[in-house]
Amino acid sequence: METESKSVGHEAFLESQKKRVAQIREELNRLFPDPVELVLEIGCGHGHYLTAYAEQNPESHCLGLDLVTKRIRKANAKKDKRDLNRLHFMKAEVREFMLAWPEHLSLERIFVLFPDPWPKKRHSKNRILQLNLLDELAKHARAGTALHFRTDDENNFTWGVEVVASHDKWTIRDDVEWPFENPSFFQDLFTAYQSLTALHGG
Ligand SMILES: C[S@@+](CC[C@H](N)C(=O)[O-])C[C@H]1O[C@@H](n2cnc3c(N)ncnc32)[C@H](O)[C@@H]1O
Repeated sequence: METESKSVGHEAFLESQKKRVAQIREELNRLFPDPVELVLEIGCGHGHYLTAYAEQNPESHCLGLDLVTKRIRKANAKKDKRDLNRLHFMKAEVREFMLAWPEHLSLERIFVLFPDPWPKKRHSKNRILQLNLLDELAKHARAGTALHFRTDDENNFTWGVEVVASHDKWTIRDDVEWPFENPSFFQDLFTAYQSLTALHGG
């Protein structure tokens, strides 16, 4: 009985996920009707960093995504005040977002800044950087696409280094400068943090 109700619950989840993925794809096609390379921020919170990045790089097509509707609303309010028409924010869970990816878009750069730390080892499966996410990002990257990861959490940083170093499509590069310094909301809360940059294709 319990197994049956579990599998009914799982089917319902898959059905609702299918709808969300279709909505995300529709929204991506609406925002970016033509082929472009995106600067993507995963877990953008209120959009502090990406808004500043877009102001500094008006030619770039920037997209921030976050799980929390209220944060995306705030991020969009920031964007609207500044009239930045190549900057967009979207509510989406990153794995569902990757399932929705339309083929005409590709990745110029990816930021993962101060993701939720999940400091305990038994929670590490919840950390954003995972091999399968790196696989998905690699599918839409070109040679030289950069992945920038920054965190104040020692365990999460070690984890990030291990996961990225073990992936054959991404190479950690200590010689690549952080492209744009401007504190995100969380960066402002911490005095110490560590950064990693990896390039697709080495
Ligand atoms: C600690 S906050 C950091 C926000 C921002 N990057 C900063 O540095 O200020 C982490 C953010 O990641 C978002 N997040 C966590 N898991 C996510 C997921 N699976 N997909 C999308 N966003 C996620 C959270 O909602 C939260 O806003």
